[in-house]
Amino acid sequence: MDVDEILTGLYSEQGRQNPYPWYAALHEHGPINAVPKRAEHSTITAVAGGYDLVDQVLRDPGWYKGAPPDWQDQEILRTFLTSMMFINPPDHTRMRAVFAKTFTPRRLGALEPVIVRIVTDRLDRMAEAGADGGEVDFVADFAYPVPALVMAEFIGLPEADLAWYRQRVDWIDEYMDVAGKTPERLARANQAAEELRGYYRELLAHRRRQPGEDLISGLVEVLDAGGVDLTEEELISNLIVLFNASFVTTVYMFSNGLPLLLAHPDVIAALPGDDALARGCVDEVLRMESPVHFLARAAPHDTEVGGLPVARDENVLLLIAAANRDPARFPDPDRFDPHRAGPPSLAFGVGLHFCLGSAVSRLEGRLALPRLFARFPELAVSQPYTYSGSLFLRGIDKLFVTTGEAR
Ligand code: HEM
Repeated sequence: MDVDEILTGLYSEQGRQNPYPWYAALHEHGPINAVPKRAEHSTITAVAGGYDLVDQVLRDPGWYKGAPPDWQDQEILRTFLTSMMFINPPDHTRMRAVFAKTFTPRRLGALEPVIVRIVTDRLDRMAEAGADGGEVDFVADFAYPVPALVMAEFIGLPEADLAWYRQRVDWIDEYMDVAGKTPERLARANQAAEELRGYYRELLAHRRRQPGEDLISGLVEVLDAGGVDLTEEELISNLIVLFNASFVTTVYMFSNGLPLLLAHPDVIAALPGDDALARGCVDEVLRMESPVHFLARAAPHDTEVGGLPVARDENVLLLIAAANRDPARFPDPDRFDPHRAGPPSLAFGVGLHFCLGSAVSRLEGRLALPRLFARFPELAVSQPYTYSGSLFLRGIDKLFVTTGEAR
């Protein structure tokens, strides 16, 4: 199979359902390859799946995040490109510093009882819905509400707004996929950005009048005191991107992880009470079923990567999910092994833009998984399931289970 066939396969429905055979085929062609048939106007010149090479490009601060030339014309792109996720230094450094200060160990510690409360409440509801052998959608009842409620509480979003909010997140995520750049999807993403900006302007005004203990109240206070180097519009862009980044990613950590864990009954039987195993399971789920499959970076000057010339401003597609199954770094890469030694996976990226919320998701996983299996030792998937239509954010949106007898 040549590289062109592999990429065609990856973009097909079959590839989205199970990209791993194509990633394995790509590894046989080496860590980086030129993209043979480039789409019109595409600046993607090469595709990389080798762990060391992807790691090296992401760690190199010279490689940057490119922007489409017309970004000022679209609300969604204006929002993205005034947020830390899509901006380059020095603006990136300035924005990230403001938020990094809010993700302190103290705040994370304070989140622990919140997560336990939300998880316990959701398990209670699942037990009720699953009593008498009834089927439960694990995503709707657990994988989605746990991260959504945790982040809503962390940031300070009213719970009642979450359903409205999620629709806008979905519109933005659809546009983010490689196949998503259609005029309809762009229009919906622009609408979502505009509505979310209006939403946050109102919320900030409200928190100015009635401050609480949440992140937004804290940020408004330091902003108004002139204590941070950020405009209100930049704060809004960052809040939108922060919540978006935290959301579906963590939902997929849970929904993609469940079938993988259920295939290892010995592991889940040992999970309750073994914190080190819980950490290992979270990391191994994220390695094998990364919610984010690729990132992209542009070359700062004409250069060579892994022997392949890349011209200045050309982009390399970095397949982090393929890197996470690189046999050179993870022996027997398709085997689930929560005790695996070796390098960290690239599921949270690496370098300047390394995920700001990785500790939050890891904590959610570590606290939730042992409790889930302690409560439902007979938990089982009850219907075939499929993965979402996006390779950028790949995950299970509906997963029917039976809970069995609850403990
Ligand atoms: C399992 C769940 C998660 C996964 C797999 C994930 C994945 C990632 C990845 C791959 C990046 C790097 C993007 C790049 O280099 O271009 C990233 C960045 C980011 N993530 Fe996460 N993420 C998760 C959860 C979260 C959570 C819970 C939050 C917020 C609390 C969050 C906030 C962010 C932010 C703000 C950035 C941008 C950081 C920057 O550009 O400096 N993420 N995430």
